[in-house]
Amino acid sequence: MEHSFWHSKWNKNEIGFHEPEGNALLVKYSHVLLNVKSDTAESEALVNESASSEKTQKRIFVPLCGKTKDIAWLLSKGCEVVGAELSEIAITQLFEDLNLTPTIESSPKGKVYSASHITIFVGDIFKLTHEDIGEVTGVYDRAALVALPDGLRERYAEHMVSLTRCAPQLLITFDYQQSELQGPPFCVSQSMVENMYKEHYAISLLERSDLEGGLKKKVKADNLVFTLS
Ligand SMILES: C[S@@+](CC[C@H](N)C(=O)[O-])C[C@H]1O[C@@H](n2cnc3c(N)ncnc32)[C@H](O)[C@@H]1O
Repeated sequence: MEHSFWHSKWNKNEIGFHEPEGNALLVKYSHVLLNVKSDTAESEALVNESASSEKTQKRIFVPLCGKTKDIAWLLSKGCEVVGAELSEIAITQLFEDLNLTPTIESSPKGKVYSASHITIFVGDIFKLTHEDIGEVTGVYDRAALVALPDGLRERYAEHMVSLTRCAPQLLITFDYQQSELQGPPFCVSQSMVENMYKEHYAISLLERSDLEGGLKKKVKADNLVFTLS
């Protein structure tokens, strides 16, 4: 997708991808990022304890983050969050929603918005390097890989490998008949994920479930949830 496509979406507030309540699959599978087994009712308590204790401080990278509510959720669990997003409108709104006043710095790669426990790079993710973002303990990819068309997706996957030095990922994609809908979001099936990431990660499919109401309320689709470790 051209950058102008996304800038125009944010300018016109056409952000159907934004989930006002955050993503339930992140909550369900948060142990992947927070390293806590979470099959029991005790898991939420363990997650809270684990992520906020200093010894287990998690630093989670959220690529193509938009103004996702999932960032607030990760922060509430004691994680530090690093994000990358093209749109400054999105990031201004993100900090407003978080009720945080950012420090804003300019760099040749774009602006950097930061506050306690959160750093967001505003600009093209492909310009960032591992040195820019620093060490991260995990990656949360929701509506990032699927936002990119064929070709760019493969480039993104390779870039993520070097950017995060293969940090474990919780990856959520949609699987549907691509001919039935023009993306984004694009169909990213299990075999596509395997082809893009199998050289670098052990991949496991945690869930395939029906996307309630269908994609854009028109097309039957499955949610796929993967761990890459
Ligand atoms: C489908 S939205 C998903 C946003 C967020 N992950 C969520 O779940 O709400 C994709 C986002 O990626 C951003 N984006 C697209 N291309 C980008 C790029 N090359 N670098 C950084 N951000 C990009 C867009 O501005 C848009 O906000």
